[in-house]
Amino acid sequence: MIKIKTPEEIEKMRVAGQVVARTLEALTSSIVPGKTRTIDLDRMAEELLKEQGAKPSFKGYMDYPASTCISINEVVVHGIPDERVIQAGDIVGIDLGAIVDGYHGDSAVTVPVGETTDEVRRLLRVARESLFKGIAQARAGNYIRDISRAIQEYVERHGYSVVREMVGHGIGTKMHEEPQVPNYVTSRRGDMLQPGMTLAIEPMVNIGTFEIVHLPDKWTVVTKDRSLSAHFEHTVAITDNEPDILTLRREEGARQ
Ligand code: MF3
Ligand code: CO
Repeated sequence: MIKIKTPEEIEKMRVAGQVVARTLEALTSSIVPGKTRTIDLDRMAEELLKEQGAKPSFKGYMDYPASTCISINEVVVHGIPDERVIQAGDIVGIDLGAIVDGYHGDSAVTVPVGETTDEVRRLLRVARESLFKGIAQARAGNYIRDISRAIQEYVERHGYSVVREMVGHGIGTKMHEEPQVPNYVTSRRGDMLQPGMTLAIEPMVNIGTFEIVHLPDKWTVVTKDRSLSAHFEHTVAITDNEPDILTLRREEGARQ
């Protein structure tokens, strides 16, 4: 059963979503290549969440040990923060969930560090735009599969692949609610979208194969061919009109 949120609930999710947005902005702009460790970003996230009266959604979820997932280069998602130092030329995915007054916001961004190649910038651009292509389909009367199709078509048209094994999700009083939101077309049309549904849409885009491998730490997911991967995620509410991006960051608002 998909839970329809009231306008009041959606405003609570916006509060959580904006905590996530502000925190992601602070984290990405704090990275100093050759100096910042991924654990430093995680500690900073914890402090910033606390200051804003929020709690991390991820910590303790299925025994996940941290407040962020930090996924560098060929790491697709769920990289566990540790002593690794972020280097110039890396691409760094930061995924953050926060809970405020019982409601979750969930968002991820992938950023280049220092100088990067045209190929890397193109991957990041296509991955980010694929998320927005998906969001554009998050409209009442459409089906989940319209979101999936828009993402897959855009990514594959640009010569990249979308990860199949992991999907987006409904979100609300729980981080993961129904429905699943695949980033590729499956045999199911999925549910029809209605105002008040809230979805975390999160394409994972690989330069090479869509296949992934789980590392022995049981969390870290890498591309099977070790090609680069980029992840973007927003929490979005379906409305009577335009999709409402609850985790939108200032820098994105200006671009739209
Ligand atoms: N954004 C991811 C998700 O929606 C992050 C979850 S990490 C976990 O599944 F550690 F909390 F599982
Ligand atoms: Co998510």
